[in-house]
Amino acid sequence: MEAFTEQLRSTNDMHPIKLLQSKALELSNLSYDRAFAIDDSDIAIKVGEYYITLLVEKFYRKVYDDPEDWFRLLQIYLLMTLLLHLLYRSIFTSPIEESNQNLTDFLIQRIGGTPYYSERKGFPALIDRHAMFDMSENSAEKWLGYMDESLKEMEDDIHEKYRRELSDFMRYTAYFLVVAQKSKTILENMGPGS
Ligand code: HEM
Repeated sequence: MEAFTEQLRSTNDMHPIKLLQSKALELSNLSYDRAFAIDDSDIAIKVGEYYITLLVEKFYRKVYDDPEDWFRLLQIYLLMTLLLHLLYRSIFTSPIEESNQNLTDFLIQRIGGTPYYSERKGFPALIDRHAMFDMSENSAEKWLGYMDESLKEMEDDIHEKYRRELSDFMRYTAYFLVVAQKSKTILENMGPGS
């Protein structure tokens, strides 16, 4: 990763976002075609909103039940969210519902379904929305571990092809977010047009 940030700093023959993408592909061990297979798939129609909702519920149940350290960070964030809920009387009754809603809406939109996420919250801007969290390779593996477990539990509901496509896309995205966070300062210093 050190060598990569050096490369990012000194590069002048590849756009920085392309470099982030190629590093994310390398770390996630995926080809471009596999990482973005959801874009050429009929997954939105074949899987549908109901099963995406169930998948995300399973995932966040595991995340919130995690007995260990790394999601403490998340819990502090959630406490803040709860306070905001009390202040602004959000339509959600609890933070886990908000986490479910955010990721469900995002995934449905990202696979080509209804753009619920942008209608409610605007541009996804995932790099910025993860800026306050520890986006390390360990966090990514933990996150992906829970997601792959949840996908496996849905083998009767979601066809293997679509489970694979979802898993690949999320693996790539998790590593893209990790790489992007590490490189953020460098990218900011490069400014527009670099
Ligand atoms: C290193 C792996 C990751 C970590 C540690 C992480 C952590 C978090 C945390 C702590 C939150 C805020 C709490 C919440 O709303 O649940 C969050 C929100 C979110 N995450 Fe991640 N995440 C990771 C990967 C991903 C991936 C792979 C995706 C999409 C494929 C994703 C999509 C989202 C979305 C859509 C939100 C809601 C953002 C908002 O509207 O505020 N995350 N993530």
